[in-house]
Amino acid sequence: MPNIASSACAKLILLGEHAVVYGQPALAIPFSSQRIKATVEPLIGSPSGLIRIIAPQLGLDTPLEELSEDNLIAQALTLSLEALELTQRPTCVLRIHSSFPFASGLGSSAAITIAIARAISSFVGHPLPVEEVNAIAFKTEQLMHGNPSGIDNTVIAYERPLVFTKGFPVEFVTPGDTFHFIVADTGVKKSTALTVAQLAQHRLEHPQRVDSVILKIGNLVGVGSRALLSGDNVALGLAMTDNQGYLHELGLSSPELDTLINKALEAGSLGAKLTGGGQGGHMIALVNEADISTIQQALLDAGAKTIYTTRLEKA
Ligand code: PMV
Repeated sequence: MPNIASSACAKLILLGEHAVVYGQPALAIPFSSQRIKATVEPLIGSPSGLIRIIAPQLGLDTPLEELSEDNLIAQALTLSLEALELTQRPTCVLRIHSSFPFASGLGSSAAITIAIARAISSFVGHPLPVEEVNAIAFKTEQLMHGNPSGIDNTVIAYERPLVFTKGFPVEFVTPGDTFHFIVADTGVKKSTALTVAQLAQHRLEHPQRVDSVILKIGNLVGVGSRALLSGDNVALGLAMTDNQGYLHELGLSSPELDTLINKALEAGSLGAKLTGGGQGGHMIALVNEADISTIQQALLDAGAKTIYTTRLEKA
């Protein structure tokens, strides 16, 4: 069998994270320049069915059997092999490399699963269709996060801008203009399972207050996705900054995120907010192309650990 290399992109939630867990829509885009790569090579001369996993960024160089059952890579491989209904496991080495940090709001857990499902299924000559890859990644998200909405696996599997609402068909969105974004890392890692669980607890204690904020976030997603469609940068930016206000109210921001978001706005961003699970991880700012370098510098001066730029092309 030939060597196979597959990959999956990172993702950025423009509007609606957390509220999406409670049935509100959310707007997400692929972050295609940042990827997790999975390569599979045959392991000649090794016992049949042995799968060796090498993932230096996760401190792993081990046979599949030695990973605990709840390990994300073990889950991704096991579910993919089950979906392939193979009578015999392939004998191979699986290498994983990510260009972006884990546990920081960019969808690394869904991207790892999707890269693995694509690579192992191509290696055995039966590439899994996007719907199956998406379903496998939703299962690993459930194992890792407890109560995921499904937005991460969906936007990463399809790699297209979309509005996601739990239990409803995905709505793909075609941008009416080119949108430029700056993404900055606070350098603080945070587990999404934890922030999702904290919000669930907060909601139990203050159901009306939390639900009214969740609803307001959902309404902003409607405004923002129409702005994306019509190419209205200013309206999308305003919706993002308003969304950040609500996320802050729900306790999902952090001092590091607040600093970067405020600096980006002071330096001329059209809108800025946290992206993903929050309380750390990354922030995202919508910017005019002409302001990119000024805002990047302002974010670096304010302590951003890594800066990326990305754009959504007018279709
Ligand atoms: O932190 P991430 O990249 O896993 O983003 C999670 C998005 C949430 O809305 C917070 C959770 C979810 O499952 O939708």
